[in-house]
This record gives sequence, structure tokens and C-alpha cells, in this order.
Amino acid sequence: MITLGIEGTAHTLGVGIVDDKCNVLANVIDMYRPPEGGLHPREAANHHADTVAGTITKALSDAGLSLKDIDVISFSKGPGLGPCLRVAATAARALSVRLDVPIVGVNHCVAHVEIGNATTGCTDPVLLYASGGNTQIIAFANSKYRIFGETLDIGIGNMFDKLGRELGLGYYAGPVIEKLAREGRELLDIPYSVKGMDIAFSGILTAAVTLRKKGHRLEDIAYSVQETSFAMLAEVTERAMAHVGKDEVLMGGGVAQNSRLREMIEKMAGDRGAKMYVPQPRLCIDNGAMIAWLGHLMYDSGVRMTMDDTKVEQRFRTDEVSVTWR
Ligand code: FE2
Repeated sequence: MITLGIEGTAHTLGVGIVDDKCNVLANVIDMYRPPEGGLHPREAANHHADTVAGTITKALSDAGLSLKDIDVISFSKGPGLGPCLRVAATAARALSVRLDVPIVGVNHCVAHVEIGNATTGCTDPVLLYASGGNTQIIAFANSKYRIFGETLDIGIGNMFDKLGRELGLGYYAGPVIEKLAREGRELLDIPYSVKGMDIAFSGILTAAVTLRKKGHRLEDIAYSVQETSFAMLAEVTERAMAHVGKDEVLMGGGVAQNSRLREMIEKMAGDRGAKMYVPQPRLCIDNGAMIAWLGHLMYDSGVRMTMDDTKVEQRFRTDEVSVTWR
């Protein structure tokens, strides 16, 4: 069975194709880069609408397949930005109708877990999902994927991007901040904001901007922001692992590319006799292959959707998903 998945929750339009063993036959990723300022949902959606047909064609070509080889279409039903979600959903519906094949809308966050399970060798992890729009700690418990901790305001990647703009570092500033942080020498006073199992980042952003105005070095600010915010993530991830009694931690999302975050999570996991798993980079960021794979799992376990079921859900919660495939 061949499944084609379309990702379109935020900045990335991705098309992936997988078979029933999770061999990734294609995984084309086209990321919208705003010319200036932040990510505007409508502009990102326009980008997706302009590129989706070409991206599908490229994915089929990479896989050496044609449309008639596709057995199931899946797409990111949510959570995400409404205009972006609607482009991916519309493309998926059009393909499903034209090819007369089933359509499955999937939860983007659960897709990050399942592509990790299928490709890294972990079986029952706590997912640390750290990206631009999402920051959540997710694990399977009592028949569902549940959120054990999450950001109360903005995603950690969003915080890095806003900080990058304030400090003149450009958009998608995470890699620049990571590089600067390596030259940091002084740990500045940044608010450590953990509330129960939840975390907040906007105070860190405000503090960092204020520190810059006071004349502190960019390197020290980047270092302090990373050390503080990553320690917060490590703390709540560790507590979730202890609570649910799991000894695997899986990384997901664009911020999982940060080597200092991985180092801290790996150390935390090692200290408690657990192991960290990281999908290969193109399966860790937002991508169509993970959407295709979860679509496959759902369809294969009996999930069927009508067109009415394919309405996008901007606030689609992880624990709303009936897990039929485990
Ligand atoms: Fe994501």
C-alpha cells in the first residue's frame, strides 16, 4: 500500500510518500521564507497554494511513481494555521476525488511521534516536541497520546524567531542563536519559567531584549536564553518520563535540530538510565512523510473518513485522536 501525505500546518508545505513498511519513497519539503518580518498565515498559505502541485509532482518523480500508484491520501488536519491547513486539505481532497482513493486527515503532533517510532527504533517514548508553533511533552498513556506539559504562551522556536528579529539576526534565527551561544561566557539572569508541568517563553524573550538594550553581548544573551529554556524543557520532560515510567525520549520538531538541546536531553536521559532517539533531520522537522506514515497507520487500522470528516482543526489536540493502530 502506497500513501501520499501532504503537510501544511505552518511554514512548510511538504509532500511525502511511504510504503507499508515505512520506507520513505519521497519527502519533498518546501519551506516558506518571509521576505521580512514574521510568518503571516495568509502569505504562507499563498506560498503553499503556489507550490503544492509542483511539490506533489516532484515527490512522485522522486519515488518513481505516478498518481495511479497512490492507494491512500493523507493530510495534516491540525493543529496549525487555518489558511495553511486549508491549502493542504483542499489539495488532499482534490487528489482523493480525482484518483478515487480514500482520504485520511491526521494529527500533526502524533505524526511526529509515529515517524520517530517507525524510523529510530524507539517503541514507547516520551516525545519532546519543540518547534516554532508547538512545544509539548507527549506520551502514550491509557490508550491515547496525551500532553503532559506544554507551553502556556508561544512555541520555543517562535521565541527564538522573535528574538532573532528583535536583535537583527534574521528570520528562522535558531541556527544563528545556536552558533552565537557557543561563544557565550556569562550566564545572564533570564526568568526560568516552569509552572507545574507547563512552561512559558515570552518572559525570556522580554528579558533577553532588555539585556541587549543594557549592552550585554549577543553571545552571552544567546547562551543564557538557550541554557535557561532548554533546562526548562529538560526538567518537564524528565518529570513526564518519571510519571509515566518510560525510558525512551524522542526528539521532534525544528528545535530538536539544536545540538545543545540534544546534549542536555541526552545527559538527562542517561542519568536516569534512559535513551534519547532523534529522527533523521528531514523526518524531524515538519514533513510530508510523517503525515503519510500516520495516514497509513490509521487507514490500515480501519479508520475511514468522509469528506465531512476532513474539515481542518486549528486547535486539534493530541488527546482527541483515537489511537486505533496500537
Ligand atoms: Fe511540527
